[in-house]
Amino acid sequence: MKILVTGGAGYIGSHTVVELQNAGYDVVVVDNLSNSNPESLKRVAKITGKDVPFYEADILDRAKMNEILDKEKVDACIHFAGLKAVGESVAKPWEYYENNIAGTLTLVDVLRNHGVKNIIFSSSATVYGDPAFIPITEECPKGQCTNPYGWTKSMLEQILMDIQKADPEWNVILLRYFNPIGAHKSGTIGENPNGIPNNLMPYITQVAVGKRDHLTVFGNDYDTPDGTGVRDYIHVVDLAIGHVKALNKIKEKAGLKIYNLGTGVGYSVLDIIKNFEEASGVKIPYVIGERRSGDIATCYASAAKAKEELGWEAQYGIKEMCADSWNWQKNNPEGY
Ligand code: NAD
Ligand code: UD1
Repeated sequence: MKILVTGGAGYIGSHTVVELQNAGYDVVVVDNLSNSNPESLKRVAKITGKDVPFYEADILDRAKMNEILDKEKVDACIHFAGLKAVGESVAKPWEYYENNIAGTLTLVDVLRNHGVKNIIFSSSATVYGDPAFIPITEECPKGQCTNPYGWTKSMLEQILMDIQKADPEWNVILLRYFNPIGAHKSGTIGENPNGIPNNLMPYITQVAVGKRDHLTVFGNDYDTPDGTGVRDYIHVVDLAIGHVKALNKIKEKAGLKIYNLGTGVGYSVLDIIKNFEEASGVKIPYVIGERRSGDIATCYASAAKAKEELGWEAQYGIKEMCADSWNWQKNNPEGY
């Protein structure tokens, strides 16, 4: 089976290409490199010992996407391509709606015109907004997003659901990721943010490597055990394997399916700092700052449905997540 991986040069995409190739799938990557470096795919090829066919193309470019799909007979698409910086999406909503929504509409149209009606979509726990209950099951109602990035995920879920409903030949799997961190064991591929990291773990690793002098903890007055925000961190390799499992579901004619990909365990910001310090042996200086606007107190998944229906369960714990994030950063202080 040949899988089109959009955004495959990025953080989650590159790790997923490794697991797909290890599982015996053929892959074709399309990425416009707007937030990635083609070096990631060279390193994937070193890990797996297999070439990674790559097209530098924008999913909005219908002519080029048609050309690629004329040439490559793919069976399914795993769709990672998208812009994902929350703060930037507030400043540039048009660019986010254009890239993520118009991009996906073009992609889906080109796919169906080539008879490909199988898609796995990268959604996010952000669609639950401030969750109605914890742990968050897939039945938890979707909520109000606090930024255009989140809305693109929420709207794209709806769009893909409507398309599947109108044409049941489509198999659509929406995967709602919790907080991916960590890196491949080799330490050769990992998260490579541009500029100042928005997310917690890349910020911590940049402090550890001396690129930033301290971390600011965004608020310690939340209604959580230590007052700092609690999240469901998941090792990116576990997340990648979740996509391989989801492909098995596609083969069974899934119709529409929605799964949380999380561990079911929540850690606070202070828990993460402590675990990272233990894993790396490096002290992380931090100060307590104001809450970040749009943040919620607690967000963690019920991972039961993915376990029951996909036979998937996260294998790595917080120690490995921290150790592997550090291994990547210390071996690649400047990224790729
Ligand atoms: P990433 O930025 O590393 O990867 C996304 C890739 O898509 C990049 O390589 C980028 O160059 C490419 N891309 C963007 N727009 C494109 C376009 N128009 N055409 C072709 N390529 C394009 O991000 P990631 O962390 O690997 O995230 C992958 C997906 O998972 C994204 O859709 C993201 O929104 C979603 N997601 C990520 C997280 C997270 O915390 N990392 C959480 C939930 C959901
Ligand atoms: C953020 C995004 C969310 C996206 C997710 C994964 C926001 C409001 N939400 O979620 O849409 O799907 O990333 O990419 O940005 N923290 C600090 N100091 C820092 C950075 C973070 O204390 O420098 C805290 C945060 O307040 C939070 C926790 O660390 O409690 C995790 O933050 P982050 O990694 O940004 O992820 P989310 O906020 O869960």
